[in-house]
Amino acid sequence: AHDDNENIVWHRHTVTKELRATQKNQKASVLWFTGLSGAGKSTVAGALENKLAEMGYHTYLLDGDNVRHGLCRDLGFSAEDRRENIRRIGEVATLMADAGLIVLSAFISPHREERQLVRDLLPEGEFIEVFVDTPLAECEKRDPKGLYKKARAGEIKQFTGIDSEYQPPLSPELHLAAGSNAIDKLVEQCVEHLKSQQIIS
Ligand code: PPS
Repeated sequence: AHDDNENIVWHRHTVTKELRATQKNQKASVLWFTGLSGAGKSTVAGALENKLAEMGYHTYLLDGDNVRHGLCRDLGFSAEDRRENIRRIGEVATLMADAGLIVLSAFISPHREERQLVRDLLPEGEFIEVFVDTPLAECEKRDPKGLYKKARAGEIKQFTGIDSEYQPPLSPELHLAAGSNAIDKLVEQCVEHLKSQQIIS
């Protein structure tokens, strides 16, 4: 195409993360939900996503169904595979944050080191670690998929909390007492935090 003004120079990356996010009246961020199986990560993240969508924000929820069946279908639950699982999800979450989205990620992500690696991929303030803190006894009582029962019977090996370690966050941005609070209240706690950080208004 003919350009009359030789002084107009188009740079690559003119459309920035900030521009993409600002167009949606939001600040890009990654809410990283971590907790035991059955703690309520997907439930809280899903309910929060509904709430944010209602408020008009642009989000994406990364969780087991859309990841372990696709991007990470080759991975199991050994320490090494979990590390690779979290590494890939961290990279995807970072790309989505670059697209200006509020990303919600809901994986056990049992190891501090891997969560730290994801934190380090993102600019200061964009990684929000959300500890979905439900005691093991309560998760085991809920046992929504019958997996704790199988793990106790030795039918599933390396099950988180039973014979595979879960390392709770030491200083998460958000600590949800998910064993003893209604979902609505936990969602409200998340929304308040996002407002306090000017991610939403
Ligand atoms: S991890 O540790 O972050 O890589 O795990 P994640 O990708 O979140 O997958 C956890 C879900 O897989 C089911 N599952 C197991 N969990 C833990 N340990 C073992 N061995 C295992 N085998 C299968 C389980 O349903 C987890 O679902 P959630 O939603 O967390 O309850």
